[in-house]
Amino acid sequence: MRGTVVIFFSNVIEQSDGEEKVMGQKILHIDSSARFEGSESRILSRAFIDQWLALHPEDEVIVRDIISHPLPHLDETLLAGLFTPAGTLTVEMQAAVERVDELVEEFLAADILVLGVPMYNFGIPSTLKAYIDHIAQAGRTFKYTDQGPVGLAGDKQIYILSARGGIYDDSPMDHQAAYLRTVFRFLGIDKVHLIHAQGLNMGEDIRDKSVRQALSDIEQLAA
Ligand SMILES: Cc1cc2nc3c(=O)[nH]c(=O)nc-3n(C[C@H](O)[C@H](O)[C@H](O)COP(=O)(O)O)c2cc1C
Repeated sequence: MRGTVVIFFSNVIEQSDGEEKVMGQKILHIDSSARFEGSESRILSRAFIDQWLALHPEDEVIVRDIISHPLPHLDETLLAGLFTPAGTLTVEMQAAVERVDELVEEFLAADILVLGVPMYNFGIPSTLKAYIDHIAQAGRTFKYTDQGPVGLAGDKQIYILSARGGIYDDSPMDHQAAYLRTVFRFLGIDKVHLIHAQGLNMGEDIRDKSVRQALSDIEQLAA
């Protein structure tokens, strides 16, 4: 599937005896702003990655570009494919199931997720929602038990850098932070870190102050 690229890779350090190897962590970086130029959430997520790599140069960053290569909405072909035994899938179902497999494996293999997320209409961009719909797979990234749902994402951390035109401190209108916390905790990620740059469309002073504050929060968080 198109849409992924490894932009930094130096994750193997051989010890002098040649036996032990120290592996860096895998970072999965996903931006969801529809714009490449002037995107505040991309600036913030890039700043986080740069700070992180300065401290952890052995880590590997994989970029999943869901804007240049958007994922389709869930459709009947995909849902039917997920419940059809292998070997009896149509060509279309096979392609859809392979798309899910690739995304789920990439998600499960990551130690750290870094998301750049603009607020669109009080929530997240539909491109990011389509990605989440692909990776939230029963039996693979979560399961239901008689004790309730259990996340299977493994020991991961997620850093979410969001950009908003308005200010939503503790407002019920913020469906972005609540949703992202809920869905990633449901998948088993307890460490969900969120940093917002807010009020970006409320004049230059508020905007500059907010971006400065977010960059400073990012510096502390990455450290
Ligand atoms: C389609 C669209 C919908 C938006 N909806 C909201 C919104 O509901 N609340 C808000 O505070 N800002 C909203 N904004 C403003 C963006 O959150 C803000 O411009 C942010 O900087 C966008 O992220 P980006 O700079 O990474 O592209 C919206 C912008 C767009 C383009």
